[in-house]
Amino acid sequence: MTHPQANLTQLQTEAAQRSLIERELTARFAPEDEVLRDAQARASAAGMPAIQISPVQGKLLQVLATACGARKILEIGALAGYSGTWLARALPPEGRLITLEVSAKHAGVARETYAQAGLADRVDLRLGPALETLAGLTGEAPFDLIFIDADKGNYPGYLDWAVKLSRPGSIIVADNVIRSGRAFQSPPPDESAEGAAAYNAKLLANPRLLSVAFPMDDGGLDGFAISVVLP
Ligand code: DHB
Ligand code: MG
Repeated sequence: MTHPQANLTQLQTEAAQRSLIERELTARFAPEDEVLRDAQARASAAGMPAIQISPVQGKLLQVLATACGARKILEIGALAGYSGTWLARALPPEGRLITLEVSAKHAGVARETYAQAGLADRVDLRLGPALETLAGLTGEAPFDLIFIDADKGNYPGYLDWAVKLSRPGSIIVADNVIRSGRAFQSPPPDESAEGAAAYNAKLLANPRLLSVAFPMDDGGLDGFAISVVLP
């Protein structure tokens, strides 16, 4: 029988290894520049929660945007402009990121980030409740990549719009579909877990979407779902 203390030591060692690996991967594959570091600092100074995606997630968004030849990207939830900066940097000069944000305060911080990044001409921030803004975007569709990272309760509604505003080959990414496993409990114990669970179920029930999800952020306790829209 294993001594409980030995188990704890092993768990601590594994957690330390995971954190070291994440640091090394970030340093090698997704180092942040001053703009990205300042975006975090600006968010923190404005009293905003530190809930932006990780650098490796940002880099993955760039890889996906480049893989689908993205010229038009839609983001739901701008927060401080951190993910938007990763995304817009993957666009060609004539490309556009339309990003939706409900909070005027967050929008102000995000605009400062885009300006510092020299991306103000490539990023179009639309202030307001996303479900209302989305209904007015059909004339600007299709989007090549859609990134959902906003209020989790509305994720199923955001997915409906993402599919409507896409084309075959578009990529739809959503953050926070695991929620420390709460998205797999039945019933899900809170509104955000419920939104994530409904989102995952909806993805998997849609024959036009080829989807996968995996742990990425919060030390593997949350993560992305990635879907490609089939013909
Ligand atoms: C929360 C939101 C996020 O988008 C995230 O990545 C982590 C946490 C939140 O609202 O708690
Ligand atoms: Mg998130």
